[in-house]
Amino acid sequence: MTVMAKKFPLVRLGVVGGGQLARMLAPACNNYNVQMTILDPSYNSPAGQVAFDQIEGDLDDPAALQLLCERSDIVTFDIENIRADILIALADQGIEIVPKPSVMRLIQNKFDQKCHYRDSGILTADFTDLSKKSSFSDIEAFGLPCVQKTHTGGYDGRGVHIIRSIDDWENRLETPSFIERFIANGTELAVIVARRASGEMVVYDPVEMVVDSRLNLLDYLIAPARVNANVLKIAQELAKKTVESFATPGLFGVELFLTNSGDLLVNEVAPRAHNSGHHTIEACVTSQFENQLRACLDLPLGQTDLHGCALTANLIGEVGYVGRPVIEGLDQFAKIANSYIHLYGKDECSPGRKMGHFTLVGDDHDELTRRLASIRDVLIIRGDTPQ
Ligand SMILES: Nc1ncnc2c1ncn2[C@@H]1O[C@H](COP(=O)(O)OP(=O)(O)OP(=O)(O)O)[C@@H](O)[C@H]1O
Ligand SMILES: [Mg+2]
Repeated sequence: MTVMAKKFPLVRLGVVGGGQLARMLAPACNNYNVQMTILDPSYNSPAGQVAFDQIEGDLDDPAALQLLCERSDIVTFDIENIRADILIALADQGIEIVPKPSVMRLIQNKFDQKCHYRDSGILTADFTDLSKKSSFSDIEAFGLPCVQKTHTGGYDGRGVHIIRSIDDWENRLETPSFIERFIANGTELAVIVARRASGEMVVYDPVEMVVDSRLNLLDYLIAPARVNANVLKIAQELAKKTVESFATPGLFGVELFLTNSGDLLVNEVAPRAHNSGHHTIEACVTSQFENQLRACLDLPLGQTDLHGCALTANLIGEVGYVGRPVIEGLDQFAKIANSYIHLYGKDECSPGRKMGHFTLVGDDHDELTRRLASIRDVLIIRGDTPQ
């Protein structure tokens, strides 16, 4: 009788954080027979459900991070809010961590990130730090309107406060922060870039982030962005220059503003897979997740060509309900060609929570936005209990 070992992993990949991004990395890991272990505090995390293994532990627990490193050949992240100091110490002991934890630390602090761009000659909106002594007259001297941003901890627009008046200043965020110029009526673009240790890079077509101006929330993403070819090219070059400046392997989402006068400015960088790259799963030759894995394994990066155009919208919890997720309209959605759903397996749905997304692939932007409207009429996700 021959006894076969159950698994022969090519590499053991550890992922700090078990959210939807790590969950979408799982299919690429399976294809490469990479054994993915997740570190996440909740037992049934979105990625833990589909990974080879999960360590239940806090992301800032040194013992849990140490254990993840022991069980992995390479470690990466699905979230940037991590204890970079612990990971820097682990990297110093020879653990391979992608991207470099020192870069994670730099990016975690938006003010340091902005200073890095200024020092590297990368265009970004003008900014200045605030101190406890800053007063409204300092803000006026800088110029109104402006945007207050917290140094650390902001995500999904929390940690961002627009100041137009003394009233807004009175309601400012009471935490270390800086102010930057408000970009009026700009277009928001995002560019995914993957980089290998050798410096080889690939760049995806820029995506346009369409904001719902009534709710001030991201409405949907459309690829390629509806701007002229020259702007697309400059955006790609700027995104590559930005990623190059960090000098680390990894996959990055570079958020840009296209101003009214046609300038491109870097807003911020996510050192991981990004919402603006979800369409790459169905619409590109190589998905952002496969290129994230290739960057981690130091393999040649995959082609980024986009087939036609694509639109991605988040599926967020309906207002007025909480509890176990209930999805309505999936039968109608499933009848619509070239439309792909991703449910993240979160066990609690609350108003505004990101529960999944869907991507529409086609040849024409207008057809995609029409399809989006008809899907929004039928497809909703909500908790099972009215609030
Ligand atoms: N200088 C600016 N001028 C105009 N709008 C801005 C500016 N900075 C940020 N915003 C708006 O606020 C949104 C959130 O800002 P930012 O990306 O810096 O923060 P965040 O909390 O990291 O957000 P997210 O997690 O959604 O990327 C931007 O996508 C943009 O719509
Ligand atoms: Mg952002």
